[in-house]
Amino acid sequence: MLRVDDLHVTVPGGAEAVRQVSLSLHKGQSLGLVGESGSGKTLTCRAILGVLPPGVAVSGGRVTLGDTDLTALTRTGWDRVRGSRLAAVFQDPGSYLNPSLTVGRQLAEQLRLKRGLPRRATRAAAVELLAAMGLRRPGTVYDQYPHELSGGMLQRALIAIAVAGGPELLVADEATTALDPAVQAEVLDLLRDLRERDGLALLLVSHDLAVVAQVCDRVAVFYAGEIVEQGPTAEVIAGPRHPYTEALLSVASLGDWRRRTLQVIPGRPPEPGTPVAGCRFAPRCAYASGVCADPVPMSTLDDRAVRCHRAAELALVGA
Ligand SMILES: Nc1ncnc2c1ncn2[C@@H]1O[C@H](COP(=O)(O)OP(=O)(O)OP(=O)(O)O)[C@@H](O)[C@H]1O
Ligand SMILES: [Mg+2]
Repeated sequence: MLRVDDLHVTVPGGAEAVRQVSLSLHKGQSLGLVGESGSGKTLTCRAILGVLPPGVAVSGGRVTLGDTDLTALTRTGWDRVRGSRLAAVFQDPGSYLNPSLTVGRQLAEQLRLKRGLPRRATRAAAVELLAAMGLRRPGTVYDQYPHELSGGMLQRALIAIAVAGGPELLVADEATTALDPAVQAEVLDLLRDLRERDGLALLLVSHDLAVVAQVCDRVAVFYAGEIVEQGPTAEVIAGPRHPYTEALLSVASLGDWRRRTLQVIPGRPPEPGTPVAGCRFAPRCAYASGVCADPVPMSTLDDRAVRCHRAAELALVGA
């Protein structure tokens, strides 16, 4: 359903912040994107959604949703796709809602625009959708302003607005990160329900592997703008094939490893634009050898993909 083929994203100054990213997602599937801060997760999502920041552009590759080539869409084309076929929720729900309009008005407007509901039918549909998002007293929530809702309620309201048009794909970039753990778990349950109930495909960015493990069938591990490993979440966690994934897993129990990995794995990732001929992780890798100076293609075996010259050899050592 969603296919990303060899995506490259360039930031102002010409540096590539995302390179050779390929991934795919079927109906009702969920894929988690993990990796250190600055590894290119958000830019990948934004490229898919067609909402890159000013000066940042797709410089190579293709993104297709069903039969639609998103990378070739015009502005009007995007208006038809965004909100209807793909939708997004981000970390700070408050900033995506208009503070001077009730939650219900904003949701009703989406239902009118995206589902073509007549104005008189939108209130009932909106209240029903708020209830489906697990909001208690949805009729009351309808008439409330964003500042009157808690973070968890706001995120549910925002998810309601995102799914109002019945999208095929929902992109959630750190959507539950700011919430209390208990509320976060509830919102993740909601995302899982939407996937199971409505066949929504989910692309979930999280710095927390536990979150990805809870929600996503598959995971893609980002390092310095590239995917270094991809596969079924349970398999990747049980038996990582890339040394970086292994290192990430070893620090996962420390909590927010986005900030800590830099200290736990000595060294830091190359800045975007730094010319690197071989493996971008090699300077920090405990297993690096001479061969790692050569360009590393992604190699695929069964349902797993890994970008490491020594993966097969290291798996044999670990076995
Ligand atoms: N608007 C921009 N202008 C210039 N560089 C940018 C811009 N947005 C992102 N970058 C750079 O692109 C790289 C990838 O950024 P991105 O936001 O995708 O990382 P991320 O994996 O989402 O990180 P985080 O976990 O902190 O959200 C980073 O090096 C970042 O500095
Ligand atoms: Mg990000």
